[in-house]
Amino acid sequence: MSIHTPRIEKKVTMSTVAAMKGVEPITMVTAYDALFAQLFDGEVEMILVGDSLNMSFLGKEDTLSATMDQMIYHTQAVCNGAKRACIVFDMPFGSYTTPQVALENATRVYRETCAQAVKVEGGREKADIVRTLADNGIAVVAHIGLMPQHVRSEGGYRVRGKDETDIKRLVEDALELEAAGAAMVLVEGVKSEAAKAVTDAVKVPTIGIGAGNVTDGQVLVWSDMFGFFEAFKPKFVKRYCNGAKEVREGLEQYVKEVKARQFPDEAHAY
Ligand code: KIV
Repeated sequence: MSIHTPRIEKKVTMSTVAAMKGVEPITMVTAYDALFAQLFDGEVEMILVGDSLNMSFLGKEDTLSATMDQMIYHTQAVCNGAKRACIVFDMPFGSYTTPQVALENATRVYRETCAQAVKVEGGREKADIVRTLADNGIAVVAHIGLMPQHVRSEGGYRVRGKDETDIKRLVEDALELEAAGAAMVLVEGVKSEAAKAVTDAVKVPTIGIGAGNVTDGQVLVWSDMFGFFEAFKPKFVKRYCNGAKEVREGLEQYVKEVKARQFPDEAHAY
């Protein structure tokens, strides 16, 4: 049996990834359980326990009904599986409505999980929240651009940064969030030109999703990138394998063999 050698041996911290800006692209994927976290650990620098789990694993329409308890539970599972990756906790909708609420919930994240940073969606209007968390020793990833938690209020997912005014707004947001103490800026669903302007403007690393090849790193949702989520494929998603097809083929074979009394054979029996 071959023992896989991980690419990354040492624990990755927020300082490790900060030092990668302009040096080497940062890789991040989502994970929601120990099994997959263990597979990804040692290969990517960062794992995001995204509230996208509410859609891809709970089968909900959007991310909005994810709760703190649910996110903590999944982050604990990821922490059990990943010992090297820098783990980011996605603050669910309604968990950071004020600086005090955000601090209470993010404190719970640091107390109850191994996450090294929390992610909040929002522009300059979230600067006070970011400042409160950062001032209290909690690392923050600020998520700007297309914000999935705004899907109901905005009536859909809209690509941002399509004109000079919006690019300027995104850059100003990123600068305010950085000044408030954000350790990283995640830019989702924006034109490459906007992602580049943000990346050039801030000193902290930027991570892109649907933001072109101009950010300091990239993130993808694992069930999208490995072809398990088949219902819908956004343009920016590249499928690196066809997970659902492989599982379906394996399952068909299993059913066929059980029905034909070919499994278990002698090699798989005591
Ligand atoms: O929840 C999530 O997986 C995310 C990514 C899309 C960045 O926020």
